[in-house]
Amino acid sequence: MSDAYIQAHTRSLEDPDGYWGEIAEDIVWTKKWDKVLDSSNPPFYRWFAGGELNTCFNALDRHVEEGRGEQAALIYDSPVTDTVRTYSYSQLRDETAKFAGVLASHGVAKGDRVIVYMPMIPEAAIAMLACARLGAVHSVVFGGFAANELAVRINDAKPKAIVSASCGLEAGRVIEYMPLLNEAINIATHKPDACVILQREQAVADLTDGRDVDWAEAMTTAEPHDCVPVAATDPLYILYTSGTTGEPKGVVRDNGGHAVALKWTMKTVYNIEPGDVYWAASDVGWVVGHSYIVYAPLLNGNTTILFEGKPVGTPDAGAFWRVISDHKVKVMFTAPTAFRAIKREDPDAELMKQYDLSAFEMLFLAGERTDPDTLHWAEDNLGVPVIDHWWQTETGWSIATNCMGLHAYPVKPGSPTKAAPGWDVQVLDDAANPVKAGDIGAICCKLPLPPGTLPSLWNADDRYKQAYLEEFPGFYKTADAGYIDEEGYLYIMARTDDIINVAGHRLSTGGMEEVLAAHADVAECAVLGVADDLKGQLPVGFLVLKAGVDRDHAEIVTEVVQMVRDKIGPVAAFKQAAVVARLPKTRSGKILRGTIQKIADNVEYKMPATIDDPTVLDEIEVALESLGLASKRGG
Ligand code: COA
Ligand code: AMP
Repeated sequence: MSDAYIQAHTRSLEDPDGYWGEIAEDIVWTKKWDKVLDSSNPPFYRWFAGGELNTCFNALDRHVEEGRGEQAALIYDSPVTDTVRTYSYSQLRDETAKFAGVLASHGVAKGDRVIVYMPMIPEAAIAMLACARLGAVHSVVFGGFAANELAVRINDAKPKAIVSASCGLEAGRVIEYMPLLNEAINIATHKPDACVILQREQAVADLTDGRDVDWAEAMTTAEPHDCVPVAATDPLYILYTSGTTGEPKGVVRDNGGHAVALKWTMKTVYNIEPGDVYWAASDVGWVVGHSYIVYAPLLNGNTTILFEGKPVGTPDAGAFWRVISDHKVKVMFTAPTAFRAIKREDPDAELMKQYDLSAFEMLFLAGERTDPDTLHWAEDNLGVPVIDHWWQTETGWSIATNCMGLHAYPVKPGSPTKAAPGWDVQVLDDAANPVKAGDIGAICCKLPLPPGTLPSLWNADDRYKQAYLEEFPGFYKTADAGYIDEEGYLYIMARTDDIINVAGHRLSTGGMEEVLAAHADVAECAVLGVADDLKGQLPVGFLVLKAGVDRDHAEIVTEVVQMVRDKIGPVAAFKQAAVVARLPKTRSGKILRGTIQKIADNVEYKMPATIDDPTVLDEIEVALESLGLASKRGG
């Protein structure tokens, strides 16, 4: 017998117009679409072509008009500043309308880009929503990135304005944003007309005359701005994510498909009703923060929590339970690494017992595979379903999940369950043929992708086609490898490119190699991700020095570690590197990163048939041992 999930999934693929057209009725449109799915220009597919709406209206104003004005829209909970502040839907709408007025008074209009470089404070969400209100395109840059990364994004997005804050607060230290912002603008070839700076008392910044505007001051005289209708296919935001080189990809999200899909996921995936309290413990700088701290819960009339803290150390490993209990959180979403951090500090979950978690119904995890140990620890201690779901910055919402609002399937450890409605997920071999159940291959999604996914990359249609669509014609390549079992459960095993996943953060080893290669003494290098109990993976570098360099190796390693921190940012967590005489390569000169990784991860490996000189692996082993990393030679 077919359950609600099977019915939805089948219909979404057989009749996408009917399926998504009905769901789209849940959004307020200023002009109805002409076509649900516009397939006139493959491989570029557009949803709700001809339709017009405003995403901010749907996230805020409509709820006030429909009677939710007094309900909490956003609760800012910040253990690092000892603050809890609640915004009702009316208050959040009013603040957002005023801030839209501030941006408009500095010339920001429909289609203009605005970079948001902010810590986890409500003003970050207000800035995003204010852009949406004006039809401007925001691009949020994660606070853990260095000035250079910010500059790359400024040059690509060419923002009219930048919104930032004087500082962010990391466990025990204040990160001043102004020096980073000034340096980024200095390096960048594109210059914004204005920067709006929110002053925080922990580090008040010196503002630059003629460029910088004080947020609080500007708000006192700002005229609230109305919602500007935009085309469903107009961009709502650009979010840069790691590609295989140091050049990040600007993932574009449109307005119409995004609003339709995200609102619908709240019930379908998370089983959340309007009015419920929902918490995604992530950062607005990542896609999880965009989709599930800001847009989806607000589009659905929920109360969202914006948490400025960490799972441990703010002040202890009970922080998550305190927030769940204080705000009566019904569903939470975070990355497995956060739970591993808690488990490490409080293995018996003693701190959990101090809190009333009776309102808590479900935990969702994503960002990396949920390892069975973490899954069982969370299930056993919380006593609620723990759901792994798989998605990417590009997709904006889950490709595979257990749709708890449709039909709860038994959880299989290590699997994010099944393809969500709208997704035709197939595992393909190198010749683009589907493999049989249980066989590993490239996980690909048949085009068109559902609403809310990337229509293209910012100003880079060719790169979009080349990166995602060319290798498997007719499919979107996820760059994840894995398999589907006999019951249709998907298993994500590894990336097929140079992306690594560190504490749920997606990083490019190619980008790090570009930084190392720029060191004056480095002739050649390789960076790869080795398994780590807490963060999932950690980057490790191998350096071959130029002939004649006889400096102290430890000094060079310290310098390259600092270079990665300065160029990419602390979030890269690049702390380990070793100098080696040679790198293992194939006879055609390709570095055997996969083999080094297997040695480091202590897994059996086969000597690659194409290896140029097998004795190099002995040297790699010695280097790994010097870094304290496990090693074992295979057959
Ligand atoms: N601004 C400035 N620096 C930042 C930053 C920010 N917004 N976020 C992180 N950093 C810094 C950290 O302070 C750390 O610096 P350090 O090298 O001086 O210690 C470095 O970047 C690495 O950060 P992180 O990988 O987050 O490590 P951590 O040790 O601070 O915390 C966890 C580890 C597991 C507790 C943390 O990663 C976490 O809570 N993860 C939750 C998962 C998550 O949010 N994933 C996002 C996608 S869902
Ligand atoms: P990001 O774009 O930062 O969200 O990273 C996306 C990548 O993270 C995916 O391509 C996967 O490699 C990995 N990922 C995210 N969620 C999961 C999950 N639930 N299981 C396995 N891998 C995941």
